[in-house]
Amino acid sequence: MHITDPLIEQYVAQHTTPQSEILYNLERETHLKTVYPRMLTGHVQGRFLAMISRMIKPKNILEIGTFTGYSTICLIEGLDKGGYLHTIEINEELRDLNRKYFEKAGISKKVTVNYGDALKIIPKFNIEFDLIFLDADKINYSRYYDLCKKVLVKGGFLLADNVLWSGKVIAENKGKADKDTIAVIDFNKKVQADPDTENVMIPLRDGITLIRKIC
Ligand SMILES: C[S@@+](CC[C@H](N)C(=O)[O-])C[C@H]1O[C@@H](n2cnc3c(N)ncnc32)[C@H](O)[C@@H]1O
Repeated sequence: MHITDPLIEQYVAQHTTPQSEILYNLERETHLKTVYPRMLTGHVQGRFLAMISRMIKPKNILEIGTFTGYSTICLIEGLDKGGYLHTIEINEELRDLNRKYFEKAGISKKVTVNYGDALKIIPKFNIEFDLIFLDADKINYSRYYDLCKKVLVKGGFLLADNVLWSGKVIAENKGKADKDTIAVIDFNKKVQADPDTENVMIPLRDGITLIRKIC
């Protein structure tokens, strides 16, 4: 299901600041060299992430799901002076590609890619993050949410991607939905019912929820 009319999407892209040449090349190379290039954040959402990050000016950013590094490069645009970004990726085969583009973007000294399972890595952080971008496997979204809340500073922001899951979240019969769709539906319900946070769901690309920890 198209969440937004493709012509509207085209119009939105035409009226959004273009991506840099580095990001354009990264997108191209991701399409040439990876099996699921659609996982990449892309132009409009990338500019959105960069803009949010610039508004927050975070000292510490956590990203869950690095892939080829497109969203990492966008998020780091708003990083405060002396700030740092930790990103987590389970697939070590992506190392050469994301490292190449972090070097091209001149951000290698401000980012660490933590290779392994995010469920095991997040609890090990002894850092309070101001901004977290959740973009890994959907099946574990609710678990990531609980773990992220523990390392998110009070007043900090968490952005969760793919919350509309190609529109499948509004499938009427939950019994017929696949396990990823059920996981996203359950995550959305959990966030909506959480008294510790406030949230706004935005129908950008595949849906993104902006969550603020209030206590
Ligand atoms: C949607 S992609 C991330 C896209 C990336 N944020 C971007 O904008 O280009 C999801 C990534 O999460 C990774 N992933 C899946 N399960 C994971 C886990 N348990 N721990 C860490 N990373 C995981 C996948 O290997 C994949 O690269």
